Amino acid sequence: MILLDGKALSKERNLLLKQKIEASVSKHQRSPMLAIILVGDNPASLSYVKGKKRACDLVGIKHDMHHLDETVTQEALEALILSLNQNELVDGILLQLPIPKHLDDDKLIDMISKDKDADGFHVINQGYLYQKKKTIYPATPKGIMTMLKAYDINLLGMNAVVIGRSNIVGFPVARLLMDQGATITVCHSKTKDIALYTKQADIIVVAAGKPHILTKDMVKKGAIVVDVGVNRVDGKLIGDADFSDLKDVCSYLTPVPGGVGPMTIHSLLENTYELYLKHIK
Ligand SMILES: NC(=O)c1ccc[n+]([C@@H]2O[C@H](COP(=O)([O-])OP(=O)(O)OC[C@H]3O[C@@H](n4cnc5c(N)ncnc54)[C@H](OP(=O)(O)O)[C@@H]3O)[C@@H](O)[C@H]2O)c1
Repeated sequence: MILLDGKALSKERNLLLKQKIEASVSKHQRSPMLAIILVGDNPASLSYVKGKKRACDLVGIKHDMHHLDETVTQEALEALILSLNQNELVDGILLQLPIPKHLDDDKLIDMISKDKDADGFHVINQGYLYQKKKTIYPATPKGIMTMLKAYDINLLGMNAVVIGRSNIVGFPVARLLMDQGATITVCHSKTKDIALYTKQADIIVVAAGKPHILTKDMVKKGAIVVDVGVNRVDGKLIGDADFSDLKDVCSYLTPVPGGVGPMTIHSLLENTYELYLKHIK
């Protein structure tokens, strides 16, 4: 089994990105800037934001942090987003999800200028993606595709099964896999017999948020498994795939942590840099 080592790959790619950013900054005399909006003190979100800020520091992207109380109103958040949209020094805006239930996340995401949509969640950018047009891709699907390409995995003609159909992971990754010539099946919580599909799959991307739902008996020998899930169980982070069960069956497998997570952050940095390049022209 070959480990799809997102930690090592992202480190390598972040270094290259840092060099590109340094060259751009010395030419244009301005650093890229990512505005980060965090609402409340959800421990997982605090930790994700910390990781994103650290990664920005590493490659030379400035961050503009807005940590708001969990009682913040929809109106106040909308006003903040509108002001960040207007701010010429801000290249990307990230709204850390999930946000408290009294807030309308879909509306807030679509209020972010599509030209500052560092996460690639804006309805227009998602529309471009589904029409196979160049755009800002959602960070996790983009990171997965970057990783598969870096490991020379040719998806042409493969049977691919995606478990999960969210707008930010499952659905867009299915689209991107299809663009590379794979034949796609998307499973979800209402799928009757997931194993029926996964047993036929050459590649499985599991993004359900359910600890260890993918096990050895569901996977054919030599399959590639990309595990997006992040679940905290007894204080430990584990994936949706049972790594120790699957490691002798798969040809390639991502670890959790250290697989898709670091690639997602790398893609966020890449997206911010892409947006910056558009803004400095
Ligand atoms: N590593 C990273 O960088 C990264 C980034 C983003 C997300 N994640 C993780 O990836 C996981 C998925 O994230 P998400 O935002 O896509 O979650 P989400 O919005 O909750 O979507 C989960 C999807 O999985 C499906 N599902 C739930 N239980 C299932 C089951 N037992 N069998 C089959 N399908 C099932 C749901 O089906 P229905 O549509 O029918 O409800 C839904 O489509 C989470 O663990 C999240 O923390 C990791």
